[in-house]
Amino acid sequence: MKEVNKRIFPVAASLRTFLSLILIRVVLTAKITAPTPSTQFSPSLSRMEQYWSGSAINKNKGMVENLQSYGIIKSRKVAEVLENIDRGLFVPNGAQPYIDSPMAIGYNATISAPHMHATCLQLLENYLQPGMHALDVGSGTGYLTACFALMVGPNGRAVGVEHIPELVSFSIKNIEKSAAAPLLKDGSLSVHECDGRQGWPEFAPYHAIHVGAAAPEIPQPLIDQLNPGGRMVIPVGNIFQDLKVVDKNSDGSISIRTETSVRYVPLTSKEAQLKGE
Ligand SMILES: C[S@@+](CC[C@H](N)C(=O)[O-])C[C@H]1O[C@@H](n2cnc3c(N)ncnc32)[C@H](O)[C@@H]1O
Repeated sequence: MKEVNKRIFPVAASLRTFLSLILIRVVLTAKITAPTPSTQFSPSLSRMEQYWSGSAINKNKGMVENLQSYGIIKSRKVAEVLENIDRGLFVPNGAQPYIDSPMAIGYNATISAPHMHATCLQLLENYLQPGMHALDVGSGTGYLTACFALMVGPNGRAVGVEHIPELVSFSIKNIEKSAAAPLLKDGSLSVHECDGRQGWPEFAPYHAIHVGAAAPEIPQPLIDQLNPGGRMVIPVGNIFQDLKVVDKNSDGSISIRTETSVRYVPLTSKEAQLKGE
């Protein structure tokens, strides 16, 4: 019997080692072959996406760090805000919030990609100082409105306008779960259902206006509601679109420049959007 054990033991030990090696290989392979998310709108960021899909605990922080390392986030303030407002709270269940891609949120709308949100926050940073007024047209999930609210603080005003009532409710629920919840409660952050092409005159003039959908031309009411010295960031065009930076000078004149080419859903009527026109 002792002789049998002596012979079986080495066989069992090497079998265990062999099985352990297979297990380690399976785990490693699973990490390496984790699905790479879509690179739509930003092929150059695919390495970041691979990093994000494989990274561990704090994926929102990882997303921000990568946007910093790629030079999209340039300032500490923008990084801080994006770290504090968890993008994971704003996407529909089952979506991957930390990959650099726009995502469907229903009603023929999307949440914009993280690099677009970061780009717009950088362009507007100086116009989102504590106490200033900010308008987010086509506020969708409420993500950027919440970021604006954190930047302008309790003495400022962040206003989201969205024409799909279900998205207005969705955004309010999202904001309630986020770091911007106290600002929603105290009223310095609000979201309203309306045609955003008309702006929201109640809290005008605005130091910062962001438009999250592409307009065929810049709506005049938005120019009128911009404070002298203020800035609007708006995608303009139909099939080919440019992100325009519109500065209202202190004498009320307007300067417009193109930041980059973009692809957004249209700023249109509710009916046309729901028909997918
Ligand atoms: C690309 S999504 C961006 C949403 C938001 N910035 C985000 O990332 O969650 C554009 C949004 O504009 C809204 N929209 C389009 N036309 C609009 C209009 N005339 N008035 C108000 N909202 C509009 C859409 O319903 C959609 O939610």
